[in-house]
Amino acid sequence: MIKMVVSSIKLNTGRSIPGVGFGTGTSFFNRGDAVADVVKHAYQAGFRSFDCARIYGTEEGLGRGIAELGVDRSELYVTTKTPDWAWSKETIVAEVEGCLKRLKLDYLDLVLHHSPAPRIGAKFMATYLTPEEIKNLPDPLDEAVMDTCRLQMWLGLQLCVEKGLVRDIGVSNFTVNHLKKLLKNPEVTITPAVNQVEFNPYIVDSPIQEYCKQTGILLQAYAPLGNGKDMLLSDPVLERIGGVHNKTAAQVALRWSLELGHCIVTKTEKFDRMKENLDLFNFTLSREEIDQITALNKNKRNFPDPSQFP
Ligand SMILES: NC(=O)c1ccc[n+]([C@@H]2O[C@H](COP(=O)([O-])OP(=O)(O)OC[C@H]3O[C@@H](n4cnc5c(N)ncnc54)[C@H](OP(=O)(O)O)[C@@H]3O)[C@@H](O)[C@H]2O)c1
Repeated sequence: MIKMVVSSIKLNTGRSIPGVGFGTGTSFFNRGDAVADVVKHAYQAGFRSFDCARIYGTEEGLGRGIAELGVDRSELYVTTKTPDWAWSKETIVAEVEGCLKRLKLDYLDLVLHHSPAPRIGAKFMATYLTPEEIKNLPDPLDEAVMDTCRLQMWLGLQLCVEKGLVRDIGVSNFTVNHLKKLLKNPEVTITPAVNQVEFNPYIVDSPIQEYCKQTGILLQAYAPLGNGKDMLLSDPVLERIGGVHNKTAAQVALRWSLELGHCIVTKTEKFDRMKENLDLFNFTLSREEIDQITALNKNKRNFPDPSQFP
């Protein structure tokens, strides 16, 4: 009998998140018009969950696309992320209010803090901040400073829940070390619902996977197709297993993440691939196949390793 993986996954707050989300980052960066257009196709293909971030420059486009859909807000699940420069309660609340304005929404389903520390040298920083503002950011390598910043950031997100701006809150790119230190603060009254991290068969981050499972934090895999890099999508093991199930290597990689209990956020601009990336619920992988895919791990990241931040 085929074991169906439910298309929604329960969070530690009792609410649910769709198992497969549509990303508006990576190659959509600062292409708001493209995102506004693609939302209709993604919705038509079956996506109901959309992932965004302040630094993607796509919130306005996503908001426009959603408004043009004209569907009931409760049909959609919208996630955004607070940026690398917000490290106080006040700046977090102001950023979330700004996100709501750009998205033209009156609440968000999920807000994640994008990074455990400011990524000072990243290209997007210069788009949003002056050199002086970048200089004044907290030192990402100063552990004591960043521990305080991460706590204040989290208290800000908790306040956003209290104010009704957002239903659930979480983090992104947090390591076990970052989460352990955050959770031991007595002021932390809400456990993150989600940790969105880079995760695919070539980067199987077992420590964060295990820790999230133990603490009830849902791991959301970003770049679940290895950012579309050919090596993963033409991996002979994924192709062979795909052949057995009459599925593509991409579908096998996505299904593997779901079988491990994670939710995923993937991105494509092509309608056929949108449908392909949702067509994951009519087959199942055997234990042996799951283990063979897990064994492909090469610790190969396409995005910066967050463990560089203490
Ligand atoms: N929190 C973070 O720091 C962080 C970092 C990175 C990403 N993200 C989020 O995660 C989302 C997804 O990341 P990603 O873009 O790296 O994801 P991905 O899904 O691993 O890769 C997307 C790439 O794969 C291609 N692709 C998609 N479906 C395919 C299929 N079925 N067959 C073959 N190729 C396929 C796409 O090309 P086409 O568009 O040409 O189809 C695109 O180039 C982002 O948009 C963003 O929302 C978060």
